[in-house]
Amino acid sequence: MSERSLCIKVKKIKGEKTLILAKKLGITNSELKIQQNTNHIYIPLVRNPDETELAKMNGQLLDFELEIKVFTKKKPQPKTLHQVLEGHLSPNLLAILPRALDIIGDIAVIDIPPELKKHKQVIGEALLKAHKNVRTVLAKVGAVSGTYRLRELEMIAGDKKTTTIHKEHGCQFQVDVATAYFSPRLSHEHKRVASIVQKGETVVDLFAGVGPFSVLIARKNADTKVYAVDINPEAIELLKRNIRLNRVDNRVIPILGDAEQAVGDKLLGVADRVIMNLPEKAIEFVDIACKAVKPSGGVVHYYAFIRLPDTLEDAQQRFSEAVEKTGRKVDTFLSAKTIRETAPYECQIVLDAKIH
Ligand SMILES: C[S@@+](CC[C@H](N)C(=O)[O-])C[C@H]1O[C@@H](n2cnc3c(N)ncnc32)[C@H](O)[C@@H]1O
Repeated sequence: MSERSLCIKVKKIKGEKTLILAKKLGITNSELKIQQNTNHIYIPLVRNPDETELAKMNGQLLDFELEIKVFTKKKPQPKTLHQVLEGHLSPNLLAILPRALDIIGDIAVIDIPPELKKHKQVIGEALLKAHKNVRTVLAKVGAVSGTYRLRELEMIAGDKKTTTIHKEHGCQFQVDVATAYFSPRLSHEHKRVASIVQKGETVVDLFAGVGPFSVLIARKNADTKVYAVDINPEAIELLKRNIRLNRVDNRVIPILGDAEQAVGDKLLGVADRVIMNLPEKAIEFVDIACKAVKPSGGVVHYYAFIRLPDTLEDAQQRFSEAVEKTGRKVDTFLSAKTIRETAPYECQIVLDAKIH
């Protein structure tokens, strides 16, 4: 698609300066693509500059011409949720529209504040327009809770479904947001841990969910063996599918059951590395993690929540004490950091601890 438009023609060397000035004057046509040839650049305009604007251009650019030229149209940029809703919601409601949402495969999960609840359908439809890859919009109803770490969700727009395929770091994960925990917000952690696993390691993922740590570790490291434990049968069913989907059949071993039982039954002293991603209860499982670590030692990735005024150092202290109760010792903390804010005054942290 092309269009004839008035434009400023300047020498290339003056191109950037001209563009800055034209933008400042509000006369550029951002829907058309800027053109250039060997010597000149052509900046499309929305209108003729008025006398004052021309005077400024004469003063700052010295050498330019105005002419008519045919320009190619830019592809229209997708609108943001806010832009789609402008005119449908009052400015004070637009101001409290959530900026963050989770996109899991083609499902969007949004946290709608109480003041906007009666507009949820409009918001859901707007979200489908703003995110072309989204097919289903779900609203969070409550907090994540229970042993399986699930939350109630309400369908507000699009296809009525809760299952999807989520792609992360070259892996595909079948997810059911209603029956098994999954969070795209931990994507960076999945990659970070997978990238520090060493050749030939045995890993125990104590709270594996649908397998974002386990499957990625096995995909990235051909010589590793990962025991992936979860107490939620739905999570283990999805994990089994994800193992097949990502062709890591012999390297990830799914185990349905309680972490304590699984370690006691078959994982005593097998692990070079243990992943403990059950932040609200991790401290209660430190002894189990220590039992899984090889007698020669290993690394534990410990995820937890801390609430202000608690600090990372407090978390390290608590963790070290829990390890010492098992008769073992933290050799060193390889890393200790905050991953994300999870509530006002609360954040999720991760400690990478080398256990003696
Ligand atoms: C926060 S989710 C983490 C899932 C996964 N690691 C991820 O990053 O998506 C915690 C998982 O631990 C499982 N879980 C809770 N208590 C457990 C226990 N005692 N033994 C084994 N798994 C448990 C839950 O079913 C849930 O899938």
